[in-house]
Amino acid sequence: MTEEAGARAIDALLAEERRYPPQPEFTARANAQADIYDRNFEEFWDTEAKARVSWLAPYDSLYEWDLPYAKWFLGGKLNISYNCVDRHVENGLGDKVAYYWEGEPVDDRRVITYADLQGLVVKAANGFRKLGIERGTHVGVYMGMVPELPITMLALARIGAPFTVVFGGFSPDSLSGRLNDMQCEYLITQDGAWRRGRIFDLKKNADEAMEMAPTVKAAVVLRRGGNEIGWQEGRDHWWHDVVEHESDDPSSCPPEAMDAEDLFFLMYTSGTTARPKGIMHTTAGYLVGTSVTHHYIFDVKPDDVFWCAADIGWITGHSYIVVGPLANATTSVMYEGLPDFPDRDRWWQIVERYKVSILYTAPTTIRTHMKWGPEYAASHDLSSLRLLGSVGEPINPEAWIWYREHVGGGRTPVVDTWWQTETGMILITPLPGLTTLKPGSATKPFPGVEAAVYDDHGNEVPPGGGGYLVIKTPWPAMLRGIYGDPERYQQTYWSRFPGVYFVGDGARKDEDGDFWLMGRVDDVMNVSGHRISTIEVESALVDHPEVAEAAVCGRNDPMTGQAIVAFVTLKGGKEGSPEKMTELRDHVAKVIGPIAKPANIVFTPELPKTRSGKIMRRLLRDVAENRALGDTTTLADASVVEEIKERATVTPTED
Ligand code: PRX
Repeated sequence: MTEEAGARAIDALLAEERRYPPQPEFTARANAQADIYDRNFEEFWDTEAKARVSWLAPYDSLYEWDLPYAKWFLGGKLNISYNCVDRHVENGLGDKVAYYWEGEPVDDRRVITYADLQGLVVKAANGFRKLGIERGTHVGVYMGMVPELPITMLALARIGAPFTVVFGGFSPDSLSGRLNDMQCEYLITQDGAWRRGRIFDLKKNADEAMEMAPTVKAAVVLRRGGNEIGWQEGRDHWWHDVVEHESDDPSSCPPEAMDAEDLFFLMYTSGTTARPKGIMHTTAGYLVGTSVTHHYIFDVKPDDVFWCAADIGWITGHSYIVVGPLANATTSVMYEGLPDFPDRDRWWQIVERYKVSILYTAPTTIRTHMKWGPEYAASHDLSSLRLLGSVGEPINPEAWIWYREHVGGGRTPVVDTWWQTETGMILITPLPGLTTLKPGSATKPFPGVEAAVYDDHGNEVPPGGGGYLVIKTPWPAMLRGIYGDPERYQQTYWSRFPGVYFVGDGARKDEDGDFWLMGRVDDVMNVSGHRISTIEVESALVDHPEVAEAAVCGRNDPMTGQAIVAFVTLKGGKEGSPEKMTELRDHVAKVIGPIAKPANIVFTPELPKTRSGKIMRRLLRDVAENRALGDTTTLADASVVEEIKERATVTPTED
């Protein structure tokens, strides 16, 4: 977004004057009470960490802030699988449901209690151990939304083996890039995953990735799709052969005593270069941060049914389908498939069936439901819902209001939660029962979090002003670095403004001190709540043998937030064609994954460049947005951009 367009958008947002004060009945029962914001930062985290987590050995100091590295709960020992599972069974909650799992095929359901989960985790951990996975072994995980995915994460946590879960929609190249970066020795995957009524061959992708990832010496394959798959004797093992015959007795596999700062997992995310960064999350801080935020922000009570409708392949799923809810002994819903299979009311059937009381999803999904129309939600009893949440991108006030009216029956608070892969936990958010809600604003920093908006020179802007969002103090679940790349860590987050965490988002703070998030200020796009870097897509395009050059930018899209537009010059002065466009889009899907497919490709004999040969992306963004062109005087050849404009009468492509 150009500055001018950004300013226009924010002015429109700030003109949003609808207010939703807390309802007294909600406030009276809310987990967060008014004094929460007055609590001292250290007292807050110390009290919460002791109340919410079971420690094998207490920590000696709360945190250490050796800029830009924070450590939390130093000297403490604990195990995440014990905290998420065993202790609840020990406390008499064995019969409580941990997951209502709903497969994509209709009537394919599993109810997994905490006692069941304990047995399943112990079995998997025993099986993994026999295969050679031990404390410190690096493991890749490439699965769909099946119960064995959280089971795998918890089993690895029990053993103390750090992992990276790679979203099932990523390509073999993306998967192998991550396996290589983390030097994974094992891969846990499945034969096929359900996707809109069809089986998607995950194992084929995994096979191709393993060809390119020589450190992987064994794979465990869950049977889910029943599809025919390739098999490499000696390397590949069926999940049922590895796991089924193992003991489910917790004493057969006692949880490892992990250090507070031991690596828990890596989550790869796009930055401003072609190579995704492995964001490091450690044990205690992540567990404390996710469980505390889950408790207060979602106001979770023992009888709630919580549904975070994200995919576990992203940070939202790690924090709020697996670790936060399980640590709080919550009953969650987990759904395997797409919202419109077999029909567009599938989600509302699920809410009705399990009496979901708290629903957490992304604005892009809300807008999809809006497009389909309110009749699908209206055809089900959604009266169990008492709180709604949103995450992943700025939510436009219309979507916020629609969500509250048509899903929340006009009764429920909506919490717009701002955070990132790097932050591990929600950082800016309303607290239901306390905060006066403003559609489109994520409102206030979570207690103990200090956020600010800086201008270009690092000065805090006065109320109403816009600038760059920064976080001034450390928080428990913050990233501990970029795996294998300390320089990039320093450069990306700590060099723009010394001493504070540079978020990469634009923001404004209004007169009441509420934050309005404005999207990325770097070369990162946000498509349907997924982060994709322009340069990643450009590299995928120039990887095609016929592409000479490519420039990529995001344009606003009413459904997906942003859509990807690519400007491509073919080799040998060749002209583009609709077939070539399809071929290139498929190529990007093959290299990165379908989520990175450009919505449009504009073929052009030349890209607009400065005299020193730098591509002027700003002008391409103007073209993509169909705006008047900005300053073209520094262009080597000003006619180029006019020609591109003519060619760019873009017709968006679906999917
Ligand atoms: O630009 C912000 C946007 O998503 C980015 C983080 O993306 P990712 O690491 O993939 O994590 C997404 C889920 C936590 C942020 O830099 N973003 C996330 N939540 C919001 C948001 N933008 C505005 N409002 C939000 N509530």
